[in-house]
This record gives sequence, C-alpha cells and structure tokens, in this order.
Amino acid sequence: MDCPFKTDEEPAYYGSYLAVDKLLSLQAPLSLIEGKLHAHDEMLFIIVHQTYELWFKQILHELKACCDVLQKPSADDDGPDMNVVVHRLKRIVEIWKLLNQQVDVLETMTPLDFLDFRSSLEGASGFQSTQFRQIEATLGLRMENRFRPDYYKHTEIGGFNPADYQTIVEAEKGTSLLRLVEQWLRRMPFFGDAFWQNWNGEETDATNTATPKFWKGYRKLYEASLSERDERADLLSKFDETFFKSGAGDFSAQALRAALFIMLYRDEPLFRLPFALLNSLIEIDEQLANFRYRHLQMVRRMIGTRIGTGGSSGEQYLQGAVNKNYIYKELAGIITFLIERRNLPKLPERLHQALRFSSTERD
Ligand code: HEM
Repeated sequence: MDCPFKTDEEPAYYGSYLAVDKLLSLQAPLSLIEGKLHAHDEMLFIIVHQTYELWFKQILHELKACCDVLQKPSADDDGPDMNVVVHRLKRIVEIWKLLNQQVDVLETMTPLDFLDFRSSLEGASGFQSTQFRQIEATLGLRMENRFRPDYYKHTEIGGFNPADYQTIVEAEKGTSLLRLVEQWLRRMPFFGDAFWQNWNGEETDATNTATPKFWKGYRKLYEASLSERDERADLLSKFDETFFKSGAGDFSAQALRAALFIMLYRDEPLFRLPFALLNSLIEIDEQLANFRYRHLQMVRRMIGTRIGTGGSSGEQYLQGAVNKNYIYKELAGIITFLIERRNLPKLPERLHQALRFSSTERD
C-alpha cells in the first residue's frame, strides 16, 4: 500500500524534506559585518538558543497531545490512552535532560567572548521566549504562583511584543495539564462503598461518609510510622489539611487521596501506568528546576551580578524563580505521607481483583 502522506511522485530528498537550506540560513549574527563575524562566539550563542526553541516546540507538541487525551471524557486508564500519555511525558523528561546538558556547550564561551557582542543584545532576553512561557502555562504554572510575575509579563522594553504577549495570555487561559490531571485523579473510582463492604479494616465513620474508612486506618498507621524526631503534631495537621480538608495548592483533598493511594499500591497492575504518570510529572518539574538552576549558574559565570539584557535584576530574579516556580510541588509533597510497604493494609478482595483485571466491577 502507498504511503498516505506522499504528495507527489518525486523521490523524497533529505535536504528538501528537512528544509536544511532554509534552516541554515536562519542564523543572523549582529556582529557579521561585510561577511566577517567579528564576535566568533555569537554563532554558538544563536545556535544554542535556536536548538532550545526547536525542542520547546517538540515539548509543546507532546504536551498538547497529552492534554487532548486527558480531556476526553472517558480516557482509558489502563489501556492505550494512558499508555500514550505516559510515553509522551517520559519523552519530555528526556528532552529536558538534553536541554540541561546543552548548558555545558554554551559555557565553553567565556565572559569576555560574550562581552564581544552582549551590548548589541540590549532589550532581548531568554525572558521573552514565548514558547518557554507556553510550556510553563500548559504544565500549570499560574501567574499568582510565580516569583515576581510583573517582572516578566509586560510589553515595555525587555518585555514581550504585543503578539507574543497575547499568545501567552491565551496559553494561560487554556486548561492546563495540572488541572486535567487533578480532574482525572478525582474521577478515581476505587473508593466507592461497593469495594469496601465487609472489609475488616477500620469501621466506617457514619457521620462522615465522604471519608472512606481506609483513610482513618491509614492515618493511624502513618502516625505510628513517625519517629521521635519527626514534628508529629505538625505532620498530622498537614496530613488532615491535605487529605481531608482543603488539599494543597491546586489539588483538592480528593485528588491527593487518589494520588497517594496510587503511590502506595503502585505494584497493582492497574496502577502501574497512573503511577508512571504521576512520577513523570514530578520528574518534569525536577528537570525544569534543574534547568533554572543550571541557567542561573551559567548567568553568574557569564555576567556576575549585572542586570540582564531583559532589564531584570538578573541573578536575583533568576534565584527567586529557582526557589518558587515549581508546578507539581504539592504532588511531590505527598511523598511525606508514605509509609513502609510492609505495613500497608491489605486491600479488600473485590478491589484487589478490580485492580488486577480490566473489569466492569470498577463501576
Ligand atoms: C550567555 C548565556 C545567557 C545569559 C547570560 C542569560 C541571561 C539571562 C538573564 C540575566 C535572565 C533574566 C532576565 C533578564 O533580565 O534578561 C535570563 C532569563 C531567561 N533566560 Fe537566559 N541567559 C543565557 C542563555 C540562555 C539560553 C541558552 C536560554 C535557552 C532558551 C535561556 C533562557 C532563558 C529563560 C527561559 C529565561 C527566563 C527565566 C524565568 O523567567 O524563569 N537563556 N537569562
């Protein structure tokens, strides 16, 4: 059968398929005057940035595909849907690792090499990477949770042009991956009464049917797992806040209970993919934090404490972003509430079976 994407009878050709000529004509160093590149390292600077932008494009492509799947009203948790999401998220993790390594290449440029052309960049900065902001927004970093949002989101000199500004506003309006994951966690069907009838764990609290009996027992096990040196009262009050009251950050208590349950029973066949999904999100956040940190170190090495070409305080701003701009911090935070696997309560047989086979019992 013919390939459905072939549009003409010409044989394909590497250079034209990849538009190599066009790609190689897109580096325009400002220090290239009358055919001579006066600042040798400007070429490296441009190519490294362009490579980042290409990978950002790929990351956005993957993120959009993940959001499309999770937006489906009936995403299949143990089938191809979830498999695709996890696969794409893992790819994003690998891309970030590569992006973090690229810093080493740029660091072969010395501060003096950079000074050869830095002044010509005044007004331009990685700050203005619209795709980077789209990635942050699609993952779920909200304006009010950022370090100094006023610093970066403006249209003065050093800020965005009106079209890019609009693109970012639109990205922030969309339903983020975080929100979709939160909704997906809330839909977890395994806390329905049907699964827990006749379970010889804790008695059901008749006054609060919304609190499944499992959690009352789990809270006791968690308390017993704490050591003398743990801040017991503090941790238990955080436990109650996180899993029974307001939740944490943008995650509801119900969603975080589901996430903790998945982490605890991740060896159950049906939880392997959900666990891999949660783990990938935490890893993406970690890689993004690594990027912020590596970038900060590079900036210190390149310009010391001078202000950035984008007009921010430079090092100070970037340090603030490293400390604050986490997206899945609350998800990673529930790791504080894990207990030893050997002390986990045995699940009711009916639930155990449901987690083993794709079964109608899940409803
Ligand atoms: C010589 C190399 C570099 C220097 C000296 C540098 C410097 C800076 C500075 C000072 C800032 C703060 C904003 C400002 O006032 O300009 C910034 C922000 C930023 N830069 Fe770079 N940068 C370099 C390379 C890169 C590369 C290769 C990328 C890759 C795309 C990049 C991406 C970013 C991003 C995304 C921000 C915003 C960070 C945030 O808001 O959290 N930078 N950069």
